[in-house]
Amino acid sequence: MSWVRELDARQRAMLDEMGVKVWTPASAPAAAPAPAPAPLTVSAPLTTAPAPAVPAPTPAPAMPRPVDTTAVAGLDWAGLRQSVAACEACGLCASRRQTVFGTGHEQARWMIVGEAPGEQEDRQGEPFVGPAGQLLDAMLRATGRDRGTDLAGGVFIANVLKCRPPANRNPAPEEVQRCEPFLARQVALVQPKLIIAMGRFAVQSLLRTTEPIGKLRGRVHRYEGVPVIVTYHPAYLLRNPADKSKAWADLCLALDQPLD
Ligand code: URA
Repeated sequence: MSWVRELDARQRAMLDEMGVKVWTPASAPAAAPAPAPAPLTVSAPLTTAPAPAVPAPTPAPAMPRPVDTTAVAGLDWAGLRQSVAACEACGLCASRRQTVFGTGHEQARWMIVGEAPGEQEDRQGEPFVGPAGQLLDAMLRATGRDRGTDLAGGVFIANVLKCRPPANRNPAPEEVQRCEPFLARQVALVQPKLIIAMGRFAVQSLLRTTEPIGKLRGRVHRYEGVPVIVTYHPAYLLRNPADKSKAWADLCLALDQPLD
């Protein structure tokens, strides 16, 4: 691994600029064998001193390490946070800036489930902080709730995926499946009285159905015994403001549900 340390700051900056990821010891799995140095294929830095033999930086290999579902199902909040932060179960770990765990009251009565982090969320490490998040906050305010930590008014917000899909593409089925144990454990720890599933991917993941949202709205579904209300994703509502009235009707249905 000594070759990695031989890259100086300038070389690292250039590689970063080019989008070349260097596989550093910090990001390597503990048990992984040290990669054999690859032959030098990049130009040496412009310097009069003899250039050290710097091997070509190797991008992080795609080495999916599936989530240990049984282990995750026994984690407490701290362990779950660590497990999410260290996750390398799908290729999204290579392009994320950071994982986006979720936010809110850990015993909130309402849990909001969205799709996946976008660019702002990936930067800030918090769900729903972009334009869709502003609409979500407004929707929550309209119900007397917020993402704060007050038990009565707080909600817990999580996504199906904890990592941003590149260019905000749709989550792939395999990514959803691999990330599923984390959301399942979040629900088990929060023990919400109600889940609001926002958008297709939240609905498909929680309810295991491919029925369109329009057909699922207006009634109460169940996830592990917890009532689930289905509604449109705030990003969809930004593109289709005429459907905001339907989303409001969904929130009214949510408000009608008992909290004990
Ligand atoms: N959309 C989501 O579903 N989740 C976020 O965190 C942001 C946008």
